[in-house]
Amino acid sequence: MASKESKIAAEPSIEDDTPDLSSMTGIGPTTLKKLQESGYGSLEALATATILELSEIPGIGEKVAERLISQARKQFKMGLKTGKELKAEFSKRQHITTMAKSLDHLLGGGVETGCITEFAGAFRSGKTQLMHQLAVTVQLPPEKGGLGKGVAWIDTEGTFRPSRIEEMAVPLGLDPDECLDNILVGRAYNSDHQLELTEEALNAAKDRKIGLIIIDSLMAHFRAEFVGRGTLAFRQQMIGKYLHAILRVIEVKNMACVITNQVQAKPDQLFGDPNTPIGGNVVAHTSTHRILLRKGKGNQRVAAVLDSPNLPEGDATYQILTEGIRDIK
Ligand code: GTP
Ligand code: MG
Repeated sequence: MASKESKIAAEPSIEDDTPDLSSMTGIGPTTLKKLQESGYGSLEALATATILELSEIPGIGEKVAERLISQARKQFKMGLKTGKELKAEFSKRQHITTMAKSLDHLLGGGVETGCITEFAGAFRSGKTQLMHQLAVTVQLPPEKGGLGKGVAWIDTEGTFRPSRIEEMAVPLGLDPDECLDNILVGRAYNSDHQLELTEEALNAAKDRKIGLIIIDSLMAHFRAEFVGRGTLAFRQQMIGKYLHAILRVIEVKNMACVITNQVQAKPDQLFGDPNTPIGGNVVAHTSTHRILLRKGKGNQRVAAVLDSPNLPEGDATYQILTEGIRDIK
C-alpha cells in the first residue's frame, strides 16, 4: 500500500475517546511494549481482545492476559450502558450517499458509519461499481452527503480502476487527481496478504483522515484457498477474527466499512431471490446490514435488504451510468 506517499491529511480532530494504552494503570513497561508491538496500542484494543489471542503473544500467559483484559475493560467502561447513553452514541453516526436517493433511502440515509455493510450479489451485479461510487462520495463534505475523508480499499480481485474514480469525481465537482490521492489501495494476492493489508489500512486510519474501508471482495481468497471439510472451521475462525478487528476500529473511529461478497444459489428456496451470500454464519452475524444486489434491465440494478437490525425490508432500483450510480429518471 502506498501509504507513505499519500497526502491524506493527518487527522486533526479525532475525538479523544481512544486512550492510549500507556494511560492504563497496573501495566509494566515491558508488557506495555510487547502489547504495543503486537498491535494493541490503545486501551480499547486491549479491552476488546480475547484471552486466547492475547496469550499468543510471546511472554504473555493466560493469567496475565485475563488480568490485563479485565483491567482494560474496567478503565474503558465496557460495562452496561443506559439506553440514553447508547442513543447518544448512535446519534454520532453519519451516512455516506450512494448518489441514488432510492438506494440511500433503502439504507436509512446512505452507508452508515460505525458498522459493516455487506453488498452481496452475482458477478456483474454492480458491487465494484458501487464501491467506486462510495470511494468518491465519502470525500464530499457532510452537507453534500460525504464525510470529507479518504478511503482505504482492499482489492482482492484487481478490479479497482483509477479512471473510473476520475469519471465519477468530475460530475460531483471534485478534483479527480485529489480524489485519487485520497484513496489508499492495497492489492491483495492471497488471504494472508489480505489480512496484512487490512491491518495496515486500520493502522493508517489511526492517524489519517480515513472515513471508509472497502473490502472488494471479502471471501474470494478465503474461498479459493480453504477447500475441503477439514479447513472450514479454521477458515471461519480466521474470518471472524478479521471482521472483528475491523469492527473494533470502525466503531471507535466512527468510520464506515463496506464489504462485497459473492452469492451461491440456495437449492431449497422457492420464493424470492434464490441467491444467498457465501461465508456462512460468521459473515452473516458480523455484517450489520446485509444488502443483496441483482441485475435488472440493461444498466439497472436492484438492491434489497436481506438482514438488518433497523432497516425495514424493501428494495431500490437504480442505474449505473458513466457518471456513476444514479436514480432512474
Ligand atoms: P464481480 O466482481 O465479477 O462479482 O461483479 P461486480 O458485482 O463487482 O460487478 P461490477 O461492479 O464490476 O459491474 C459490472 C457492470 O457495471 C458492467 O456489466 C457494466 O454494466 C457496469 N459498468 C462497469 N464499468 C462501467 C463503466 O465504466 N461505465 C458504465 N456506464 N458502466 C460500467
Ligand atoms: Mg467486482
